[in-house]
Amino acid sequence: MITGGYTLDLHCENEAVHGFMWNWSFKESAGTHIGESDKSPYGGSDSPDCLVPRFSLLSTAMTEYEQLASIPQKELWELPLDEILKASTLRETLVARFAWAIPNEEALAAIEKAAKGRAVVEMGAGKGYWAKLLQDRGLTVLPFDKKKQPDAWTTVKKGTPKILTRHSDKVLFLCWPSYDDPMAHDCLKYWKGDTLIYVGEGNGGCTADDAFHASLDKYFTRLRSVGIPQFPGIHDNLTVYQRKQVRLRAVSRPKLR
Ligand SMILES: C[S@@+](CC[C@H](N)C(=O)[O-])C[C@H]1O[C@@H](n2cnc3c(N)ncnc32)[C@H](O)[C@@H]1O
Repeated sequence: MITGGYTLDLHCENEAVHGFMWNWSFKESAGTHIGESDKSPYGGSDSPDCLVPRFSLLSTAMTEYEQLASIPQKELWELPLDEILKASTLRETLVARFAWAIPNEEALAAIEKAAKGRAVVEMGAGKGYWAKLLQDRGLTVLPFDKKKQPDAWTTVKKGTPKILTRHSDKVLFLCWPSYDDPMAHDCLKYWKGDTLIYVGEGNGGCTADDAFHASLDKYFTRLRSVGIPQFPGIHDNLTVYQRKQVRLRAVSRPKLR
């Protein structure tokens, strides 16, 4: 579980997210920390006034989390209807506040290992939650998104896949590219780097489009996959890919006379 180095309100939220699918047990009351926070993870004002609306959003997530704490990790169709509704409400709340995928220590460590000290560029970063966790581990992460994100966890610059032509020296990180959206495939058109980290479902799943998955198969080798906590009915994980070596065909030289 990630605890070190965060401001307290971010720390509480990590606890909630990281504990979410691991054991379905609620550990901490966010309310106990709100007065202790000395720095906002949002990069804005740190005054208590500024934290209140964020805190109420957080406490909503906590309350819903507490309500769901007894739901076991199952497929959606194995759950009674009322549990499905509760689970999807919780998912909506957490996704809107944090990220579409739930990070864990193994996933963050895998990104750090794959980066080998290089910077990471993230496209479609949303609120930058994963980027913030990685930055807090000491990684250089440049998160971009086409939309300006309110309440982002870190600075998420405006950018689209085209800018990746300038970032081929970096590791590319894609977390939950939207279903049937060309964004992830566009990234592969512009970024020519060697190491790609993708969090999402596999081919035929609910993330990215067919062209992206076809390109992964054709141009990349899967190095390793890491399990992450999953919302009920979601089958996402983290995979590290390496670009396949392009073999240049030997061209026969004309004989010198
Ligand atoms: C499903 S969300 C995932 C966000 C984030 N990675 C997360 O896990 O919370 C997909 C994100 O991709 C962004 N996006 C879609 N098309 C994009 C594009 N062409 N360029 C940059 N970002 C894009 C959306 O604005 C959205 O934030």
